[in-house]
Amino acid sequence: MTAEQTLALIKPDAMEKKLQGKIIDDILNAGFTIKTMKMLQLSKEKARKFYAVHQGKEFYAPLVAFMTSGPVIALLLEKVNAIEDYRNLMGKTDPAEAVKGSLREKYGESTRRNAVHGSDSPENAKKEIAFFF
Ligand code: RTP
Ligand code: MG
Repeated sequence: MTAEQTLALIKPDAMEKKLQGKIIDDILNAGFTIKTMKMLQLSKEKARKFYAVHQGKEFYAPLVAFMTSGPVIALLLEKVNAIEDYRNLMGKTDPAEAVKGSLREKYGESTRRNAVHGSDSPENAKKEIAFFF
């Protein structure tokens, strides 16, 4: 079994609420290795590009505004089955629907302010890792 990599983000809402330490602790306790990480402020242009797949949807502009409202932490995570396992650790997009104990259930407050991001496929993981690192 070979290790796989995925890209995680701690979003501005969680940063604002000083939840980054708790989230990183949960990620490590779930068996992920942090290969590298950095804190940065996304520009509007970068945020638009990152969520380009949602361009044209009604939530695209507020999503970009939210993602640029403060700093984020990008993490390069490694683990066997990292992409799927991190999506499971994260929970569903809407924290109200996320499984008990998942990051979004514990730390998210709404579909937009949902604390964390995780790559959703090997193809996107590769793209998103290159985007940030
Ligand atoms: P993410 O990309 O942030 O990890 O979230 P996800 O895969 O669970 O959800 P995705 O469908 O990729 O959506 C990206 C982000 O857009 C916002 N969103 N708002 N109906 C809505 O208002 C709506 N749907 C999606 C969320 O902030 C979601 O995390
Ligand atoms: Mg997504």
